[in-house]
Amino acid sequence: MKPLAEMAAEVLTTADGREKTALSRKYAAEWFEARKEGHDVVIGAANPPLQPARPEKPDLLSPRDVPRRRPGSRPGQIALLHAVAHIELNAVDLHWDLIARFTDVKFPMGFYDDWVKAADEESKHFNLMCDCLEELGSFYGELPAHAGMWRAAEDTVDDLMGRLAVVPMVLEARGLDVTPGMIEIFKKAKLDNVIAALEVIYAEEVGHVAYGSKWFHFLCGRHDLDPKEEFHGLVRKYFHGALKPPFNEEKRAEAGLPPDFYWPLADEIPAKTT
Ligand SMILES: [Fe+2]
Ligand SMILES: [Fe+2]
Repeated sequence: MKPLAEMAAEVLTTADGREKTALSRKYAAEWFEARKEGHDVVIGAANPPLQPARPEKPDLLSPRDVPRRRPGSRPGQIALLHAVAHIELNAVDLHWDLIARFTDVKFPMGFYDDWVKAADEESKHFNLMCDCLEELGSFYGELPAHAGMWRAAEDTVDDLMGRLAVVPMVLEARGLDVTPGMIEIFKKAKLDNVIAALEVIYAEEVGHVAYGSKWFHFLCGRHDLDPKEEFHGLVRKYFHGALKPPFNEEKRAEAGLPPDFYWPLADEIPAKTT
């Protein structure tokens, strides 16, 4: 088996979404097979690109130039699924980039198990969203997509703790907040396959946030840092803007994100309940 960092770099330099995710799933299966059999695995080192290879389509636009459509309409539903597919494709690259970029930091093998599993699940999510789009007569690439998705990776290119704080613990946690509302939209539209796909995504994303929190706390422990203070400092440094309530407190708790991590970064103060 080739070193994991080289596998990661290969995924990152594959442009087509279906090809990228097929390679990602193949390498994840190889990794877990080797781990199960107790074979030696090598992390190695790679030179991941600053930006991952991407397909020619979709066109990437600034968020304010991406047209908005009513979610009650079929074009609105397609636009929503297209946006989720784009997020999932970015997530595939974000997890492999995390593996390839920070190989100078030593971790227990469980770190790589977690992120390979997350990358594999994101690949599945992208394919689920593409299948849903195709069932509705569309495809990933038909609409424009947000250009800013890779910004968090570029901002934290040399700061692993910043990467963990902003990507899994802020951006992916945000997914936990908004997915139930999305599922409601597709329940109204009675699109059962879409509901089933979004429920898979919703369940598995809890794990990704949890991996972020787990390894963030691990590094804080290694460097004798206060996790909450450190998290607040890094999010303020790298994340542009405030966090948006309402928060999914239940799923965030399940993922190891306590309220005193995110509420102080919110753009409104919760009403006192006492
Ligand atoms: Fe995902
Ligand atoms: Fe995720």
